[in-house]
Amino acid sequence: MERFTGSFTQQEPLPPEAIDAALRVMQSGRLHRYNTAPGEIAEAAALEEEFAAQTGARYCLAVASGGYALACALRAVGVQPGDRVLTNAFTLAPVPGAIASIGAVPVFVGVTEGLVIDLDDLAAKAGQARVLLLSHMRGHIVDMARLMALCDAQGITVIEDCAHTMGASWAGRLTGRWGAVGCFSTQTYKHANSGEGGLLISDDAQVMARAILLSGSYMLYDRHRAAPPPEAFADLRLVTPNISGRMDNLRAAILRPQLRDLATQCARWNDRYRVLEEGLAQTPGLTLIARPEAEGYVASSFQFLLLDWAPEAIRAVTARCAARGVELKWFGAPEPVAFTSRYESWRYAPGDPMPETDRILTAILDMRLPLTFSLDDCAQIARILRAEVSAVFQGDLTAPDAAARAD
Ligand SMILES: Cc1ncc(COP(=O)(O)O)c(C=O)c1O
Repeated sequence: MERFTGSFTQQEPLPPEAIDAALRVMQSGRLHRYNTAPGEIAEAAALEEEFAAQTGARYCLAVASGGYALACALRAVGVQPGDRVLTNAFTLAPVPGAIASIGAVPVFVGVTEGLVIDLDDLAAKAGQARVLLLSHMRGHIVDMARLMALCDAQGITVIEDCAHTMGASWAGRLTGRWGAVGCFSTQTYKHANSGEGGLLISDDAQVMARAILLSGSYMLYDRHRAAPPPEAFADLRLVTPNISGRMDNLRAAILRPQLRDLATQCARWNDRYRVLEEGLAQTPGLTLIARPEAEGYVASSFQFLLLDWAPEAIRAVTARCAARGVELKWFGAPEPVAFTSRYESWRYAPGDPMPETDRILTAILDMRLPLTFSLDDCAQIARILRAEVSAVFQGDLTAPDAAARAD
């Protein structure tokens, strides 16, 4: 009985250029982004300039985390305490958390079997808010042309949460470049790793001027290089609160070489994803997630559905896979575990039940796909998943003891 022995939480080491750059910043002692020697361009400013160029955005701001980027973007587009903000029912806690952090109220929109926001439900709820915080959760991208047409027609401003889609696109246009603001995370489990960190991009000068002031630029915003001109700050600088959340030069320094390598890393994730997809094709009872032609996905994680399975059967699958070293996260668990959570577990934001969405959430199994896995590892994981899902599907509900199976 084969058993997988790799770690689902182990990322690759940082590239040598990133480590060298980090050492240079530490040797300089100038870690704060506004602590520059005469004529020096801060690493944070250089990162913003490079990420703006890489994404084709006019402006970019580097901040302390992806969650900070979301809250900052919401404030920058004018969301006020008490406002309602549409968002995905299938996402992770930092997304409704960002809405709640500014005193606004999440309104959850359902999920489809494709694991994207349900556009019919969005249309039905469109009148309830003027901002949509759209989460490209686990890298699944909705038909962005349809979504933007719907939101434009309703006067809804779209903020994209691209925590899981850095480098991904819809119909050839990068995520983060459809809405008014794109927000990215550079936390360890994302597509670039600075431990913690976030990036915002936008073409809107007023929104970006507000975001820069909010992030804690004091009166030093002219040191930014991917920022609107000073005139854009004139009416805002004394009326915009400083809510510090800057990125420091150390993180920026280690991100710059990683972002130069992003396309290569994205291709490596997709190679791994395809091995899993092939290994699981036509497994009875298991539904793979359809990936539309227009979706230029970057699959740094893997999901499948056990649709309409009894909870005991799904629990048996997760236990049997865990016993063979394969960690699955189940979005249907009654209590949130580790990073999973579902809309009814965010009790600060009560909403109406959504039976169709509950059916999908209950069926979702989710797995990380770190680049430390080889293609052979992925083939082995697929064999284990296939065997255990098939066994339970055929009625074997025993959940073998992990220690016994490991022998
Ligand atoms: C979907 C999603 N959005 C936003 C975030 C926030 O990112 P960060 O951890 O950098 O605050 C995360 C982080 O896990 C996430 O999973």
